[in-house]
Amino acid sequence: MKRTHNCSELREGDAGQAVLLSGWVDSVRDHGGILFVDLRDREGITQIVFDPQNHSLKENFAKIKPESVLSIAGIVEKRIGETSNSHLSTGAIEVHASEMVVHNVSKTPPFPMDDSADKVGEELKMTYRYLDLRRKSNLEILRLRHKTNQSIRNYLDSVDFTEVETPMLFKSTPEGAREFLVPSRMNPGSFYALPQSPQQYKQMLMVAGVEKYYQLARCFRDEDLRADRQPEFTQLDIELSFIDREDMYALIEGLMAKIWQDILGIEIKTPFLRLSYEEAMNRFGVDKPDMRFDTELVDCNSIFEKSDFKVFSGAIKSGGSVKAINVKGLADITQGELKRLEESAKSLGAKGLAFVKAENDEWKSPILKFLSQEEQDNLKTTLNVENGDIIFFAASEWEKACAILGRVRLESAELLQSRGLLTLDKNDFKFLWVIEFPLMLMDEDAGRYVSSHHPFTSPVPEDIDLLKSDPIKVRGQHYDLVLNGVELGGGSIRIHQPDLQKMIFEEVLKIEPEIVKDRFGYMLKAFDYGAPPHGGIAFGVDRLVTLLAGKKSIRDVIAFPKNQKGQEMMTQSPGIVSEAQLGDLHISVVEPDQEED
Ligand code: AMO
Ligand code: AMP
Repeated sequence: MKRTHNCSELREGDAGQAVLLSGWVDSVRDHGGILFVDLRDREGITQIVFDPQNHSLKENFAKIKPESVLSIAGIVEKRIGETSNSHLSTGAIEVHASEMVVHNVSKTPPFPMDDSADKVGEELKMTYRYLDLRRKSNLEILRLRHKTNQSIRNYLDSVDFTEVETPMLFKSTPEGAREFLVPSRMNPGSFYALPQSPQQYKQMLMVAGVEKYYQLARCFRDEDLRADRQPEFTQLDIELSFIDREDMYALIEGLMAKIWQDILGIEIKTPFLRLSYEEAMNRFGVDKPDMRFDTELVDCNSIFEKSDFKVFSGAIKSGGSVKAINVKGLADITQGELKRLEESAKSLGAKGLAFVKAENDEWKSPILKFLSQEEQDNLKTTLNVENGDIIFFAASEWEKACAILGRVRLESAELLQSRGLLTLDKNDFKFLWVIEFPLMLMDEDAGRYVSSHHPFTSPVPEDIDLLKSDPIKVRGQHYDLVLNGVELGGGSIRIHQPDLQKMIFEEVLKIEPEIVKDRFGYMLKAFDYGAPPHGGIAFGVDRLVTLLAGKKSIRDVIAFPKNQKGQEMMTQSPGIVSEAQLGDLHISVVEPDQEED
């Protein structure tokens, strides 16, 4: 029995036709012996009518259970009057069954197969992920993801990129996240590492003369998981030769415009806004600002420089900053909400979260007694304080003060949303580039500089002279693409000069020369044989699709995602392996309770 139509195809004009449909039983209703079955496939639903007078059909009625798989042969008939269903594309007809094959009878699914399953616990849904995916909304996400990949490939193909696959079995590299290691049976005691990204290979492809490379690459990072992170994820990885930052911005803006047009039919405005890292931190307290609401951080150093409130003036004296943010309309914040905001601030290292509320032409604040009239007047004008507002303060080192209020800004926005005072439209797409990140960060624990992105990023030309004397002041040719508070992608123009790369490894990052030779020797050697100037970028495809699908977590757009403990519940991976397998790999396992401290 072969299908003639899918379950969303038949219309009034098909009445009288003999058809064959296949799919799953969405629902069964018994109307005085006559069965009405909604038969569902990936395209839609068609109503099937089973007449109990047909004895060969009736014998199998007990098998027609929700999620059983059937093929039905029958005749299309127009539904009469009010029995037609305008909510269904096939609502004007029904198929009167003459024959049926029951391919499989289903047990009762452990959760409902419609949108009410959204509220069911994730562990249960992930254990039965094949059922969860069978739900219409999830099948649509898989298709949307496929179409996004297709749109990416079409665009990059149209501008002459070559898709190249790079190895999954790579070697351990020191920078970045913790890696997944794979023992080598043929080389006892040696390990591959799964790639965190194809960074080094793609740079070698530039030395090879590929010029325009891309790959939809699987990447692996053994990090603590959050809603926007998985241990294995997909990058759209891109690298080009003979380009500068402007070429990159134009290429990627074209790509995003194409994806948004193809997938959502939305025309996005280009060029995108650009903010330096410093400006993003100063105004929004984060390097991936959500620009859908305009509340901004304000610098208050000039107001409090000479304040009697030592928490503020002291922070400024020791080189730090006092920043403030006016959250309009949130003066009615509850004690509980305030406490949670303070805890968030403290988790970022704040000593407290001073605030001032303006209500009924009166200011209320635990710190009001410390603020002079002049300071209050200044605050009022600088922050445009009106009745109903609440001002939060952070006094600390500049970056920390910004980050604390950046968090307060986001959490206050949630509170405003819950009061109906702010709407963040998920169809409002605010793209921006964040640029000019510092090239280096100080790792206080290790007492040395580390790359803020990766060690292959080229410094901004005018800052190269500072590399040895004041590395923290050097800006990198690094760019991040940010959308609605999410870092979609990041990349940089690379170093292609072997001497400069070697100097950064050894003299700035202070990596031992033998280690440089062991880990990056091949790269430095390659640069000696005609490396072109090059640069690239990589996007989190899972994050991109999450935003396109209007979802919250990247787990929603991955077919078989892992839970918070890095486990895939359906197959129960990772799992224990046999002693024999371990023996072959020259591995012995030390149980955690036997490990030395
Ligand atoms: P980066 O480390 O910034 O850059 O990664 C690029 C993008 O990949 C996504 N991403 C993740 N998505 C899901 N789960 C994760 N654990 C995860 N980690 C990263 C993010 C991020 O912006 N080789 C460089 C790129 C380059 O310089 O060309 C790199 O990997 O969206
Ligand atoms: P204290 O004088 O330490 O009791 O602080 C007075 C108020 O200022 C309290 O509401 C604290 O939460 C707040 N506070 C203390 N330190 C800071 C800081 N570094 N930045 C912002 N607020 C602070």
